[in-house]
Amino acid sequence: MSWIREGELNLIERLSANVLKAGPVPKHVAFIMDGNRRFARKKHVDRQEGHSQGFNKLAETLRWCLQLDIPEVTVYAFSIENFNRSREEVDGLMELAKLKFLRLLDERCFLNVCFAYTSRHEMANAVREMAWGVEQGLIKASDVSEALLSECLYSSNSPNPDLLIRTSGEVRLSDFLLWQTSHSCLVFQSVLWPEYSFWNLCDAVIQYQCNHASIMKARELHQDEQRRQQLEADHACVAELLHHHGNGKPADGPRRQEAVAEYGLRREARVKDFLEALRNKRDSFLTQLASQAT
Ligand code: FPP
Ligand code: MG
Repeated sequence: MSWIREGELNLIERLSANVLKAGPVPKHVAFIMDGNRRFARKKHVDRQEGHSQGFNKLAETLRWCLQLDIPEVTVYAFSIENFNRSREEVDGLMELAKLKFLRLLDERCFLNVCFAYTSRHEMANAVREMAWGVEQGLIKASDVSEALLSECLYSSNSPNPDLLIRTSGEVRLSDFLLWQTSHSCLVFQSVLWPEYSFWNLCDAVIQYQCNHASIMKARELHQDEQRRQQLEADHACVAELLHHHGNGKPADGPRRQEAVAEYGLRREARVKDFLEALRNKRDSFLTQLASQAT
C-alpha cells in the first residue's frame, strides 16, 4: 500500500480542494518544516519522537499536495548548521533519514530533499563551477550571467518554487533557497510542523492566489530585464571583437546586428557544452561517492 497515497480527504476538504483548484495552484511548493523539538517539548515526548512525527507529517502533506494538484515539493530536511546540534540528535536524524529515504524512493511524487544544504554554500559552489568552466576554456568570463548561475545550482532541473512555507512562527529563511525564491510567495505560519493541517496548507495556497498577479508581473519584469542585460553583454562583446579584429572602420548597423546574432548563437552553444560537461563531472562525482559508500 502506498504510504503517501493512503488516507482520503473528507467531503468538506474535498470540496475546499476543488474550490482552490479553480484558481491558480502553485506548481512547486517549498517547506521549511520547523518546530519538531518544540512540539516534542509541548507533548512531553523525546526529541527523536518529535522528528519522527515531523516526518509522518511530511508524508501527509505530500498527499495533500497531490490532492491539490501541486506536482513538485522541496523540503529543508537538514541544514549544514544542523551539524552543530548534539551528536545524539544528529545521529538520530541521520538514522531517520536512512530509514525514511528508502520509503520515499518507493513513491512516485516529485520530491526534492535538501539535506546538508545551505543556500549560500550552493551559490558559492555555482560560482566555483563557472570559474572551473572558464579555467577549462569551456566558457568565457563574459558568459557568466544570472541565468548561467541558475543553471549551475543543484536545483537547475526544477522550476523556482511558487510558494515557500515556513512553520513554527519563525520569520526568516535560514539560508534556504535564497536565490530561487526571489519571486516566490513567502508564507510564515505559527503552527509547529508536526501539527500542520490540511487547512494550514489551504491558507498558504490562498495567500499565493491573492498575490498571484503581482508575482507573475514581477517574474515577467525580471525576465525582460535578463534578456535586455544579455543583449547588452553580447553587444559589448561584439564591439570588443570588432575593435580588435575589424579593419578599424565602425561596422554599419545591419552588419553589427548580424554579428551580435551570430555571437549569441556561439555563446549559447558554448554554454550548452559547458553545462553538459558540468553534468558529467557531477555524475562521476556521485558515482565515485556511491562506490565509496558501498
Ligand atoms: C526543524 O525542527 C526540523 C528539522 C531540523 C528536521 C526536519 C526533519 C524532518 C521533518 C524529518 C526527516 C525528513 C526526511 C526527509 C528524512 P527543529 O528541530 O528545528 O525544532 P525546533 O524549531 O522546535 O527547535
Ligand atoms: Mg527550528
